[in-house]
Amino acid sequence: MKDFKQRVFSGVQPSGDLTLGNYLGAIKNWIGLQDTYETIFCVVDLHAITTWQEPDILRNATREVAAGMIASGIDPKKSIIFNQSQVSAHAELAWIFNCVARMGWLNRMTQFKEKAGKNKERASVGLYVYPDLMAADILTYRATHVPVGADQKQHLELTRDIAQKFNSDYGVDFFPEVEPLIFGAATRVMSLRDGNIKMSKSDPSENSRINLTDNRDLISKKIQKARTDSEPLPATLSELGDRAEAKNLINIFAALSERDAEAVCLDYEGRGFAEFKRDLADLSVSVLGPITEEMARLMNDKTYLDGILSEGANNANKLASPILKQVQEIVGFLRP
Ligand code: TRP
Repeated sequence: MKDFKQRVFSGVQPSGDLTLGNYLGAIKNWIGLQDTYETIFCVVDLHAITTWQEPDILRNATREVAAGMIASGIDPKKSIIFNQSQVSAHAELAWIFNCVARMGWLNRMTQFKEKAGKNKERASVGLYVYPDLMAADILTYRATHVPVGADQKQHLELTRDIAQKFNSDYGVDFFPEVEPLIFGAATRVMSLRDGNIKMSKSDPSENSRINLTDNRDLISKKIQKARTDSEPLPATLSELGDRAEAKNLINIFAALSERDAEAVCLDYEGRGFAEFKRDLADLSVSVLGPITEEMARLMNDKTYLDGILSEGANNANKLASPILKQVQEIVGFLRP
């Protein structure tokens, strides 16, 4: 294998509000990568329309995700930030990958099964080939590292399979072997109403999640209202057993305070949730307050935001187009 430039790519869908889950589980972990890698962060609007999106809402959510990234510490001077639809190489390479990936591979994707539900016949074709587009996102830049959560690992495996099949079908060493970046401390944030399901922007209950558009008051209220049990906290995580809601709140506390969950548990040994939640509410407000306020400020400055996205798309295009041209050469597309 030749040496590929160390490059990070990741994406967030602009479907619904950004939540505490997106922040703690993803974006927060990307901040530190900016100093070690060349970093590209993408608002994946092409992926969003695999399920229905109202156009005006999609437009707004695209800006919101970009604002959320910037407010959380993604620096447009260090990273490329753009929206996917504005760099056509993604869609073009995805088509080629539709012809490389096999039906059997896509049939195994668990996310499709979950999202399509019982009525597969009515799912969009886009939802089915979603993982090919994700592979194209990454490989359009020949990115080497992709920070993702556990739910995207299967898609990343598929990306590796596609890259490998492309290389071997065409007898080239063109696409790198993509490595996942899994963060030990990355927190899988669960719903505030049910500790067994993931915090999600599509949950019908507003109280199940903290949105990065919530103000300080609302953040505090939602934490205070979070579901818990009536037992006091034990000294260790293992003694928590299957108290899913309690575990979730401790994990959130640990992530927000950048401490070990065991240490947090020990701190609150023997104390009840009323006190714990009061402290967690204060902590959440102090960490998230500045981010949500910066995000609101950015959302009021659309000229600035759109400028960042447009410059990002230009820079992304500069990286992607020579790579796409080489792919066209390799595949045998005549470039007269
Ligand atoms: N599928 C990812 C998610 O839902 C988003 C995504 C799209 C992505 N393209 C990507 C993530 C490329 C990493 C790399 O979370």
